[in-house]
Amino acid sequence: MQQEASKKTDKEELLRRLEEQMAVDNTLPLREANLVFGEGDPDAPIIFIGEAPGFNEDRLKRPFVGRGGQLLNEAIASIGWKREDGYITNIVKRRPPENRDPLPEEISAYRPYLTRQIAIINPKIVVTLGRFAMNYFLPHAKISQDQGKIFFADNRLIVPIYHPAAALRSTQVLEEFFKSFKKLPKILKKVDELLRRARSKLASN
Ligand code: URA
Repeated sequence: MQQEASKKTDKEELLRRLEEQMAVDNTLPLREANLVFGEGDPDAPIIFIGEAPGFNEDRLKRPFVGRGGQLLNEAIASIGWKREDGYITNIVKRRPPENRDPLPEEISAYRPYLTRQIAIINPKIVVTLGRFAMNYFLPHAKISQDQGKIFFADNRLIVPIYHPAAALRSTQVLEEFFKSFKKLPKILKKVDELLRRARSKLASN
């Protein structure tokens, strides 16, 4: 118990330092916007990764707090989980103007920080929300074809799911979005076995 607590405190401290480093990194793009670093349990087995902050996220400096965030909260609650038991962040940590899509060079600029953030948290499962976060880990995947499936990359399970904003625009996407969330508790329950199989398959190739 004692050991668990100190592990969590260490992670909190490492994340705090990483956020400080990002805040003073003048080479990062979109510096006119606020830094939205991420939030949640640093020891979570699951991390949810979106695209980039929007208007409300920029204002409150918290990820997924607008309408999309409400839907994400609903989806998390629908499987009996709590938002604060996971960790939530984005591939790009500042809002692009007018909520435009993040540019490839913006995604690349923020990549080293997300890599370190994920390494500190060390989750077993990465749930990507939307096409941009999915393609960050799985460059060749197609959202309509691959969302809801389980992949293995960077030594973790990757589960792409539609972006909540896309689910708000289409009832069919909304259905798929909730359906994919429903798979997560089972995936989490079997995660060690799934990782073991994926690693041994990789080793035998
Ligand atoms: N959309 C995202 O991708 N991330 C947020 O934090 C909010 C909206």
